[in-house]
Amino acid sequence: MMVQLLSKLKPSPSLDAQKKGDTIMKKFTRTLTCILALSTITTVAIADEDAELVINGELSVATKAAAPADSALDELISGWRFRTNETQALQMDDFDNPSFIFIEQGEDLYAKVDGSEGKSCASCHEDVASFEGLKSTLPRHNASSGKLDTMETLVNNCRTERMGAEPWKWSKGKMTAMTSLISLQSRGMPVNVKTDGEAAGAYDLGKELYYTRVGQLDMSCANCHEDNYGNMIRADHLSQGQINGFPTYRLKNAKMNSIHARFKGCMKNIRATPFKEGSEEFRALELYVASRGNGLSVESPSVRN
Ligand code: HEC
Ligand code: HEC
Repeated sequence: MMVQLLSKLKPSPSLDAQKKGDTIMKKFTRTLTCILALSTITTVAIADEDAELVINGELSVATKAAAPADSALDELISGWRFRTNETQALQMDDFDNPSFIFIEQGEDLYAKVDGSEGKSCASCHEDVASFEGLKSTLPRHNASSGKLDTMETLVNNCRTERMGAEPWKWSKGKMTAMTSLISLQSRGMPVNVKTDGEAAGAYDLGKELYYTRVGQLDMSCANCHEDNYGNMIRADHLSQGQINGFPTYRLKNAKMNSIHARFKGCMKNIRATPFKEGSEEFRALELYVASRGNGLSVESPSVRN
């Protein structure tokens, strides 16, 4: 399959001549170069195969799990295992993990009164530890709205319906600080999202989106994260694209990143028009991708490059 893809994407000789011209073409060429680098061996340090994720020397987090019988994957592997030793180490100690700066901001926001009702999260939820286990089950179907709830919609629902406060933007700092804080309460627990019953429709949509080729490069999520995980793409070691570690701190942008922001980035990289953060499509894709990690441990907040 990759061979077909590569030959299809081979740049024509005339591409050279256009170097100084058209920026769009330049970008496109750059992307082609990136795709063409797929599966070539580069000498980038990749992590020790036998490394295990133990946090603060005490919390052992499973970064591999047996794939369910109907899985398209042979084995479930967390993105942590595809990172360099240095990046892995940042996630092994909460003092080194930059996410905790943002989690502290989340704690402040949790205690802060906001909105017309004069309430904070803590007014009703007391200890944030009461959210233990929530992250591993999201997204989930909401019977009254008929849509999928994600951590972001649950938080904003309390803000708008119970606090009389403005909703937070999906991937902005306040939201990701809060979703990181709440997700942390489930760290180490197995991902277990429901895909049947009322959630089945969204699951099917998510699966369809995962396998649909899109963008100028005509690629699907599966082309990279199912067919080519373990290979190098440019200097990046391709993972299974699991979301058990989100929100994730990325060295690239030095902040917490939402799941939908990551999806958006991957779609942009293949020159596709991304869906909107919070859209029905991205929520469905989130459910499907989460389900591909059912059995892996929640790792939030993870560190990636
Ligand atoms: C006026 C009371 C009130 C305030 C203030 C409030 N919540 Fe809630 N929240 C609730 C109730 C009631 C529910 C639904 C019942 C439940 O699941 O606890 C809920 C549900 C949730 C859930 C889903 C929990 C689950 O297990 O399904 C999350 C997450 C949440 N709230 C986060 C927040 C955050 C974050 C804030 C502050 C930004 C906040 N809430 C402020 C009352 C409140
Ligand atoms: C051209 C290849 C390519 C395609 C197609 C692609 N991605 Fe990615 N994706 C990457 C690369 C490279 C990374 C960074 C390295 C890694 O974690 O795999 C990445 C990272 C991710 C991550 C972060 C994983 C982690 O552990 O933090 C997720 C989630 C993800 N992709 C989901 C998707 C989804 C969903 C799609 C389809 C809409 C998609 N990707 C399409 C190349 C791709």
